Amino acid sequence: MAMDSIVLFGPPGAGKGTQAQRITESTGLPQVSTGDMLRAAVGSGTAVGLEAKRYMDAGKLVPDNVIIQLIIERLKKDDAKGGVMFDGFPRTIPQAEALSQIAYVSHVISINVPDAKIVERICGRFTCKTCGFVYHEVFNPPLVIGSCDHCNETDFKKRADDNEDTVISRLEAYHNQTSPLAEWYKSKGILCEIDGDRNIEEITQDILEALN
Ligand code: AP5
Repeated sequence: MAMDSIVLFGPPGAGKGTQAQRITESTGLPQVSTGDMLRAAVGSGTAVGLEAKRYMDAGKLVPDNVIIQLIIERLKKDDAKGGVMFDGFPRTIPQAEALSQIAYVSHVISINVPDAKIVERICGRFTCKTCGFVYHEVFNPPLVIGSCDHCNETDFKKRADDNEDTVISRLEAYHNQTSPLAEWYKSKGILCEIDGDRNIEEITQDILEALN
């Protein structure tokens, strides 16, 4: 069973993945992104990937039973024994309830960003093809344009669901199904709200302070 895990929570494009990549060294917790796990399953053409793809392409949430099973399997791995940093999970009350049975969550970091900022963040996103580091064309480009800061890769990719139409559906899913979780975690006294509408380094500092 994983101990002392943390959850990075927030709307699509809030900066969960960006912050996870920055704080993983300080926390020592591995990043567990259900979005990345699902994209890997889609890329390998597994049964889970085939089922998930149609939901992801439409900007809808993948069914809870699929996600919960993925997490149960992931938490059995050795690197999860000391806790993990969940990125994009849980996203529904049933997912949070299932999580509470299998891991101890000490902090839920809610990165708050207004809807008006989300579309430009998502539509400008690209990632390193080798190490997956997240960039933005305007707000967060690599230090040397065309070369990844972390592994010097020169090839980058964009996500299939990073387009304006899908972002609208993803935001709808967030407001209808995911945002109620903030109150749920607040009532448990473990929600830390962070203003995500600032520069990346300031947000990282606030998260690290909240975790301390
Ligand atoms: P997922 O991959 O989890 O996508 P998401 O939640 O929509 O979140 P994103 O990855 O889009 O955003 P992020 O918050 O990580 O932002 P990032 O750091 O990249 O899920 C994809 C799909 O999979 C879902 O739609 C669903 O179908 C399915 N799914 C996944 N998990 C599921 C679950 N648990 N249950 C059911 N279905 C599930 O930043 C975005 C951009 O902004 C980047 O370009 C970045 O450089 C830039 N940026 C970051 N911070 C800042 C800042 N402070 N200022 C300016 N720009 C910034």
